[in-house]
Amino acid sequence: MLKTYSCGELTKNNVGQKVTLAGWVHRRRDHGGLVFIDLRDREGLVQVVFNPDVSEGGHKVATKLRHEYVVKVTGEVAKRPPGTENPKLATGEVEVIAEEVEILNPSKTPPFDVSEDVEVDENLRLKYRYLDLRRGRMRDNIILRHRVIKFIRDFLDAKGFIEIETPILIKSTPEGARDYLVPSRLHPGRFYALPQSPQQLKQLLMVAGFEKYFQIARCFRDEDLRADRQPEFTQLDLEMSFIDEEDILSLMEELFIALVENVKPSMRVMTPFPRLSYLDAMERYGIDKPDLRFGVEIRDLSDIAAQSDFAVFRTALEDGGKVKGICAPGCAHYSRRQLEELAEFVQARGAQGLVTLPLAPEKEQAKSVAARFLTREQTGEMAARFEAKEGDLLLIVAGKASVVEGALSALRLEVARRLELADPNLLVFCFILDYPLLEWSEEEGRWEPMHHPFTAPKDEDIPLLDTAPERVHAKHYDLVCNGCELSSGSIRIHKRELQEKVFRLLGYGKEEVTQRFGHLLEAFEYGAPPHGGIAPGIDRVVMILAGEETIRDVIPFPKNQSAMDMMFDAPSPVSEEQLRELHLRLRRE
Ligand code: AMO
Repeated sequence: MLKTYSCGELTKNNVGQKVTLAGWVHRRRDHGGLVFIDLRDREGLVQVVFNPDVSEGGHKVATKLRHEYVVKVTGEVAKRPPGTENPKLATGEVEVIAEEVEILNPSKTPPFDVSEDVEVDENLRLKYRYLDLRRGRMRDNIILRHRVIKFIRDFLDAKGFIEIETPILIKSTPEGARDYLVPSRLHPGRFYALPQSPQQLKQLLMVAGFEKYFQIARCFRDEDLRADRQPEFTQLDLEMSFIDEEDILSLMEELFIALVENVKPSMRVMTPFPRLSYLDAMERYGIDKPDLRFGVEIRDLSDIAAQSDFAVFRTALEDGGKVKGICAPGCAHYSRRQLEELAEFVQARGAQGLVTLPLAPEKEQAKSVAARFLTREQTGEMAARFEAKEGDLLLIVAGKASVVEGALSALRLEVARRLELADPNLLVFCFILDYPLLEWSEEEGRWEPMHHPFTAPKDEDIPLLDTAPERVHAKHYDLVCNGCELSSGSIRIHKRELQEKVFRLLGYGKEEVTQRFGHLLEAFEYGAPPHGGIAPGIDRVVMILAGEETIRDVIPFPKNQSAMDMMFDAPSPVSEEQLRELHLRLRRE
């Protein structure tokens, strides 16, 4: 090693020792006689002092140092003079008095300041990701990611799980997104698909008898990107044989409680993890990934609204819609402007408008249009439904049920954001259960799986597959944390006949089934054990633990919002020669 210590590890116990350090010039201050630099390596910062009386040559070199130069320094650790200690720095009680310094490599002026956590255009950060990753916050996120994965590996190993790699070049395994395709040179006109998840492979590993499998698996999905979606991302993919739903839920609960305790002890986890049915979640939160750190639940007001003369309510109900609302605690004083902002917020999410009902003394209620159309009793009944009190603000949306749910679930988060109701150091994990097996796709005019086509229906609902598929519930569970879907999983179908029946319900033709899933159906005929699993998204787990808003900040080299790699400039054109080898010709449009 070129160094004897890391910058960040020096304390007053090292005073008097001669040390050699190597790292980057983080900051530099030239005080005429003395030059100070903060020297940075992965472990942290330490102040180095260049005094011409100690080393004239060293001081001369120090005057030439600039940000991000790579240097090696040898000197003695000294206590800082009284009054100059820096309590914000782990090494703030000491400094290194430089005797020798060597520039290992100079640096151009970086395109953004690496030493400060300042806002920088994301595309610039991604283009120079190797500089962005030098910044403290990003370094900590990547190290946290390492700790999370290491903890998961050790935890599952101790529970008897085997980590098994599965191929990247395979055939489509559908998870509801488009595939990334790889053309084959050896087989003209044929393509591999990158796995959207190792779903079928982990099921085949159960048929192979491994019983407890996991993998830190890379998945690929060509879908529209969002803050918590990347075209390639990482799952903790996991599968077990001879289990039921409860085994997976309790394993996940134990894993996540222990994970937080070990890698992020400053955060609190609410235990036990609440469990909600899908219906209950939709009723109370308008979404199946509720943030349960705060209440502000949605309540159905349709029955009360039906008695009013308010046209907005009546029309919605006559059209088969709903009237629902939330209560924003202590917001009755909101100004016209603030109320308009909330109305625009729900309109941007498809709602016709927002009915605002401040629970205030009568003269102030005149501000509300709705109050004029509702009797005192009706207002009172609505307030009672929320257990609301004077000073609260009711926010009501009327319209098609799905629009009302969507608008109110978002408004609930917005109110919580404005009122700072969500404790950033609290993690409320919850399980969502009892999903329907299928959902009707208006667009496609057919049933689609709510999870994926391998999910088992509840045993008691199997007869309904023939008569009332919409009433079939699945052995499917989601794990949600603070409003983020961390994970989906299910008990799988392990018998050919039932799997074929579900494929038929989904409208897959016989030939399509044989071509796409023949291998799996055949495997089910060779003693497939009952099995099930789950796959938490590692990027989302780390994002939440790091307190970040996007998974891009916890992935070392992510794509940008338009799926571009800004550093490599990928995707990029390829040569005619490569295309020819792959038997491809581009259509010039
Ligand atoms: P699912 O498709 O629900 O289930 O994915 C599981 C989890 O993976 C994460 N995830 C993503 N993370 C980042 N970017 C994306 N584009 C992305 N897509 C999904 C989420 C999600 O909850 N094979 C099944 C699991 C199973 O049944 O065992 C599956 O992949 O955190």
